[in-house]
Amino acid sequence: MNAFFPLRNGQLHVESVPLSDIAAHFGTPCYIYSRAALEDALAQFQKELAGVDSLVCYALKANSNLAVLNVFARHGAGFDIVSSGELKRALAAGADPKKIVFSGVGKTAAEMAFALSTGILCFNVESAPELERLNGVAAGLDKKAPISLRVNPNVDAKTHPYISTGLKENKFGVAYEDALSIYQHAARLPNLEIIGIDCHIGSQLLDPAPFAEALDKLLQLIDQLTSNGISLHHIDLGGGLGIRYKDEAAPSVKSYLQPLLKKLTGRGLKILLEPGRRLVGNAGVLLTRVEYLKPGAVKNFAVVDAAMNDLARPALYDAWHDIVPVMPRNSKACQWDIVGPICESGDFLGHHRSLAIATGDLLAIMSAGAYGMAMSSNYNTRPRAAEVMVDGSHSHLVRRRETVEELYALESLLP
Ligand code: LLP
Repeated sequence: MNAFFPLRNGQLHVESVPLSDIAAHFGTPCYIYSRAALEDALAQFQKELAGVDSLVCYALKANSNLAVLNVFARHGAGFDIVSSGELKRALAAGADPKKIVFSGVGKTAAEMAFALSTGILCFNVESAPELERLNGVAAGLDKKAPISLRVNPNVDAKTHPYISTGLKENKFGVAYEDALSIYQHAARLPNLEIIGIDCHIGSQLLDPAPFAEALDKLLQLIDQLTSNGISLHHIDLGGGLGIRYKDEAAPSVKSYLQPLLKKLTGRGLKILLEPGRRLVGNAGVLLTRVEYLKPGAVKNFAVVDAAMNDLARPALYDAWHDIVPVMPRNSKACQWDIVGPICESGDFLGHHRSLAIATGDLLAIMSAGAYGMAMSSNYNTRPRAAEVMVDGSHSHLVRRRETVEELYALESLLP
């Protein structure tokens, strides 16, 4: 709970809208985003970067709902994409292609051609073969592709191994030791234009030190590039800044950025950032209803109408999300495992939660704005949840609930 999700008159709200109103209008499970929280999160970056030649490129994999993207685009944000699907989404939401960077280890030739045709800002190239392919695609279109190399600085981001990306054993980027020679090679390819350098060391980082460590390594490399006649226009420091899910001391945007800005002073480099989670994670909740209470000899289960297909993070990473009753009761709390209806023991949203709840109660799964809806699936033929954006006292349906018929509409029977 925070300023955007206040407890007022005994009930949890999103901005000025009671969550029970949203459940009544749009049903459950339902993702709800606060426009003000999204704007506040972006403003925190933009405030620290005021007067600095910079661009915040929201990593839309975290939450790619068009309304969310549109809020950021209206405030001048750029976007970090990883597929032509994400590029189309960003453009549909009003993004300026000149503010889009394209990351990802597996860009296809078709994706490259599409991105080139829209005139994106930069390709973050992750391997030597990708350089060759991009050069060829650009030649075919008689264009020059603007590129950065994503360099793997081999620093330990000290985060969950599944979301750590800057170590030698990770699949991302080019090895630090190889970067100079790959840059030199890129400089000889006629249809590429070297404009920057890029890194992204991992996600949900709670310590700003690895970012500074990665930057130091990149600056050393930039010096080597300069002495080899390769000059850069920008440096892209990726995303990764963590948020509070439980009681983590997530660094402020200021304490994250200031040491980096200090190191970059006087370098004449435009600074790009690719935050995802930090812009949306704490701006969204997943609203669900208790269907059944199943007290047992060993465990008590509360079966709710949201499941691992709606929010995969607990099942996938054992991630912890706060679970709060929308209308807290005064009765005695007991321990519940909050589980979904899916036929897997891994289908849980929270274990051992001390809650006073009854059948029919609404629960809010907090901090669900990042990698929630974006990683949802239709497992067990469950239509994906509706998405609602609250703006002050108004709620807008920004993605309607899927119908079951839509889930099998692309399938056909044998003749
Ligand atoms: N840039 C690149 C190249 C990335 O791969 C990512 C995230 C970001 C930026 C944004 O990182 P963020 O600021 O959100 O940490 N599904 C996982 C997180 C996977 C992150 C993947 N890459 C989760 O739910 O924790």
